[in-house]
Amino acid sequence: MTEANRRSTDFTPDFTLAHLSDVHLSPLPPIGARHWNLKRLLGWLNWQRRRRHLYSRDVLDRIVADIAEQAPDHIAVTGDLANLGLPAEHEAALAWLRTLGDAERVTVIPGNHDIYSHIGADRGTGRWHPHMSPNTAAADYAIAEAQSAGMSGDAAFPFVRRFGKLAIIALNSAVPTRPFYAIGRIGKAQLDRLARILDRLGAEGLMRVVLIHHPPLPGLAKARHDLQDADALAEVLARHGAELVLHGHEHISSEHWHPAPSGHIPIIGVPSASLARPYKKEPPARYHLYRVALDTNRPSIELIARGLAEPGGPIIELERRLIVPDSQ
Ligand SMILES: [Fe+2]
Ligand SMILES: [Fe+2]
Repeated sequence: MTEANRRSTDFTPDFTLAHLSDVHLSPLPPIGARHWNLKRLLGWLNWQRRRRHLYSRDVLDRIVADIAEQAPDHIAVTGDLANLGLPAEHEAALAWLRTLGDAERVTVIPGNHDIYSHIGADRGTGRWHPHMSPNTAAADYAIAEAQSAGMSGDAAFPFVRRFGKLAIIALNSAVPTRPFYAIGRIGKAQLDRLARILDRLGAEGLMRVVLIHHPPLPGLAKARHDLQDADALAEVLARHGAELVLHGHEHISSEHWHPAPSGHIPIIGVPSASLARPYKKEPPARYHLYRVALDTNRPSIELIARGLAEPGGPIIELERRLIVPDSQ
């Protein structure tokens, strides 16, 4: 049996991580007078004309119920919970996150639709802080790491969550953007800290799972939709290594491999978890389950995609495969 054909029966997973993204929660709340601007007007028109017919809360609720049935050890949500980045949407997203599980069990990072346009002094996605900060197991590590970087212990990103021999490193690529732009940016401060964190966690022999909303490599997203410093992020990953990078944003399934001294890094995108029917290249709602066996030199990772095979259908297993370089 080739490695690519091996199935879950070949190993007992030590950890199961569910990954969903781009839920674009509906309904859209009323927009207060102070939050109107050109960006939101165009976004609102787009929502009314098109997007509200695509992103279904009912479909998302069924996906969430299916995740609960699969009982993963942890759930990662890689952004775009909102549509127009409104405080009322951030509130609604927090309530939704709590339906997934408590903050120790659910990690979230923002997407470009969450940090969409200016909201003045409002806390915005800061409401999600319990889900967007180190877990109990990583609290001491976070303080030590931040102090070594000359920063306060609550510097927001990247933050680390530890689960035994696996660690999640969560980046924020979302920045407010101009109309017709959905770009992202990591910035030098996050990149510098990411490099140090990857080194430290790698030296400990942990499986390093990086979360980011935008595709992390150059050329994976169309112009005006891409990560502006993807070159720099690609270099950090190539130099310091990681065992898995998960992202959303493009609303499609994707798999790329990035060279690193620790071995090629799988970079995997997941479609939207709420799309009711296919739209252009975007498949209907799905999410990914990663079953990870950590007992070998390099972790074995099995990906299970679950979601809608067709509009209105049941949530089913769509695909199951090992994540190995020769499976491309
Ligand atoms: Fe999205
Ligand atoms: Fe996005």
